[in-house]
Amino acid sequence: MNTRANKTALITGASSGIGQELAKLFAKDGYNLVLVARSTDKLNEIGGQFWDEYGVETVVITKDLSEENAAQDVYNQVKEKNIPVDILVNDAGVGLYGLFATETDWEREKSLIHLNVLTTTLMTKLFLKDMVERNEGKILNLASLVAITPMPLMAVYAATKAYIYNFTQSLINELKDTNVSVTALLPNATDTDFFNKAGASNTKVTENLDDPSLVAKDAYNALMKGAPKVVPGGLVNKAYEVMSYVAPQETMAGMMRKNMEPKKEPVTDEKGNKAALTWGIGLAAVVLAGAALALAYSNSSAYDKARYRYKAGKLKSGADDVYDDVKDTLINGLNSVKDAVSTAKEVVAKAKETFADVLA
Ligand SMILES: NC(=O)c1ccc[n+]([C@@H]2O[C@H](COP(=O)([O-])OP(=O)(O)OC[C@H]3O[C@@H](n4cnc5c(N)ncnc54)[C@H](OP(=O)(O)O)[C@@H]3O)[C@@H](O)[C@H]2O)c1
Repeated sequence: MNTRANKTALITGASSGIGQELAKLFAKDGYNLVLVARSTDKLNEIGGQFWDEYGVETVVITKDLSEENAAQDVYNQVKEKNIPVDILVNDAGVGLYGLFATETDWEREKSLIHLNVLTTTLMTKLFLKDMVERNEGKILNLASLVAITPMPLMAVYAATKAYIYNFTQSLINELKDTNVSVTALLPNATDTDFFNKAGASNTKVTENLDDPSLVAKDAYNALMKGAPKVVPGGLVNKAYEVMSYVAPQETMAGMMRKNMEPKKEPVTDEKGNKAALTWGIGLAAVVLAGAALALAYSNSSAYDKARYRYKAGKLKSGADDVYDDVKDTLINGLNSVKDAVSTAKEVVAKAKETFADVLA
């Protein structure tokens, strides 16, 4: 392989979604690629496009990464082909929707844990050893914003992402005296095939999804800088992150549960407006609560920090009340859409102002 960068990135889960968008960014920068997933045709097609558009070479490895020995097989194939992997992206992952006790299937959960946890861990171990020997290399691990919150109705999935996030942060410390970096990517809900495949396509969370190409762009920049973690997107996603650190876990679980419930049929004719509006108000309330807490939390003593955790619960109830009030007003058919929009704008503007100092 011989191109501009003369470097190679191996990406698992490159056949769609965030992985495919990341692969595109590497190809644009002249990286040769090793693409791994189950969909051979899709990977070949993507590799062909990269050759035509960017003149980079692609090796396709077809592999079901939820199978025993999958990571070792991929590593062996790369070694046999004598490809030094400069960058590893552990993107392949799946979710599963349903109540853990009564609805989800254990065989699917076992395979999910194997893919999201075991394969990611062994891929990291195998390629990281070579990177440390060369004292050079980068790894991007796909966690999620739900790595730092509970996620009822996708409990096992969120737990696997918590593992990945924690694992990555420990490795960062172990590697601090080397030139090897590991970055955790924590996207919010993103517009890929993920929720369909997980059986969660009809949930409220799918009403507001981030663009996978923008998620990939933020991730790529953070990876190249060797950042420990990246929460892609704007203020709202960062507000969720801060909320997750300071609010009690049961509060976060309640909030996530609401997000994961099935969509409700809109009551008014102004279908789109109403959905967008109630979502906007809900977010604004959360942003405001997160901003207030973050400010208080960052300026407080250890004793006060404990109190603020308690207050987070209260603020969250306040946020819920705002949300419910607005919803009720709309459902009652009052002519308040304009008022609600300007209220939401004011709340968001105020929150942004406060938040800018905390998260700058
Ligand atoms: N979308 C979100 O809201 C979101 C949010 C946070 C984090 N994430 C994480 O982002 C990563 C990518 O997800 P996505 O949103 O881009 O979803 P996606 O479009 O469904 O992509 C998933 C990728 O993983 C591959 N994959 C799935 N099962 C596999 C298996 N058994 N063996 C090999 N490859 C497998 C798929 O390829 P094949 O089907 O061809 O095998 C596909 O390329 C996942 O780790 C996910 O947990 C997603």
